[in-house]
Amino acid sequence: MDIDTQEQQLQKQFEQQKYDEKQQLQHQQQQQHYFNAPNIQQSQQGQTSTNDYNQSLLFQRSSVSKGKYTLKDFQIMRTLGTGSFGRVHLVRSVHNKRYYAIKVLKKQQIFKMKQIEHTNDERKILKIVEHPFLIRMWGTFQDSRNLFMVMDYIEGGELFSLLRKSQRFPNPVAKFYAAEVILALDYLHSHNIIYRDLKPENILLDRNGHIKITDFGFAKEVSTVTWTLCGTPDYIAPEVIATKPYNKSVDWWSLGILIYEMLAGYTPFYDTTPMKTYEKILHGKVNYPSFFHPDVIDLLARLITADLTRRLGNLQSGAEDIKSHAWFSEVVWSKLLAKDIVTPYEPPIQSEVGDSSLFDQYPEEQLDYGIQGEDPYVQYFTDF
Ligand SMILES: Nc1ncnc2c1ncn2[C@@H]1O[C@H](COP(=O)(O)OP(=O)(O)O)[C@@H](O)[C@H]1O
Ligand SMILES: [Mg+2]
Repeated sequence: MDIDTQEQQLQKQFEQQKYDEKQQLQHQQQQQHYFNAPNIQQSQQGQTSTNDYNQSLLFQRSSVSKGKYTLKDFQIMRTLGTGSFGRVHLVRSVHNKRYYAIKVLKKQQIFKMKQIEHTNDERKILKIVEHPFLIRMWGTFQDSRNLFMVMDYIEGGELFSLLRKSQRFPNPVAKFYAAEVILALDYLHSHNIIYRDLKPENILLDRNGHIKITDFGFAKEVSTVTWTLCGTPDYIAPEVIATKPYNKSVDWWSLGILIYEMLAGYTPFYDTTPMKTYEKILHGKVNYPSFFHPDVIDLLARLITADLTRRLGNLQSGAEDIKSHAWFSEVVWSKLLAKDIVTPYEPPIQSEVGDSSLFDQYPEEQLDYGIQGEDPYVQYFTDF
């Protein structure tokens, strides 16, 4: 078989499997992430020092908002996406008639999966981040069984869907999305927040075709290093799998995987099971398709490297080293941040009417929202 056909086959197989995984996830609520709950030692060592904390974004802005919304403020509509702990709905405000997305998480599921701390972190961080390429959250509330997070509704669908439809992106398209992701990650890192779940499913496109990163389920404020094993197999950095202390540069590794996937149509360490993928990640050998531009191969070799003294983003100049890499030479970063640039793709939607045609369909289920009864988890989610 010649190389081109091999690449095509790999791409097809990858595509099928990723769709299957999504299906499985919705039908069985199967766990797609792999994590340990941080043990005591981990959380103690992962604490930020008081000094760091004083300078942090979390300290500067109040992250508490109580009694702002209730379920009665929204008309719940179709499901936009499903995840490990619940689903995300399109909703409409009964007051201003605008559309929002509400992420609903089942407390019981969070408790079972030992994700209480991660869920509280998700709320806390979403409440305070403010960036053109990050999702905006308006508030949260809860009933006896579920937690609710009210966000802007991003109409253009997941980058995942666009990529599967396109199979792969041309160089300039991949570069555009990568560049917007870099600005978002750089912002988070400058506030000592690691994102830890970069992948096309968590990148949405707004009505003009700019990105919005959603899903802060693994985001964490960390000024130095942390230990928790979390993320999604294809995107996890080797130091995370090896349960070594790791830092923000795990996001730059994932950026490398994302760029590779956008250009190739499959991920570099893809295999049929997570275990085999982990083995490949630890082995570290990356094959670059023949059509990759030499500049991007150079960039990826410096992102997808286990050697932290070589990984771009982790060196003296931080994200600047990535931004000034040859592959990004034509990007005018200030214009990009101002969205003063033509996007490569405008999602075909009717804006502001709740058009959700670009999202996959999910089977709807009987909703248990709004029940005010006994709550065995009442002490865990007091901020919501
Ligand atoms: N603000 C939003 N607007 C539109 N769709 C969203 C929004 N937030 C999430 N989604 C959809 O719901 C899916 C699941 O949400 P996410 O926060 O990623 O949950 P999980 O942590 O379970 O992966 C996303 O992949 C996306 O398709
Ligand atoms: Mg997600």
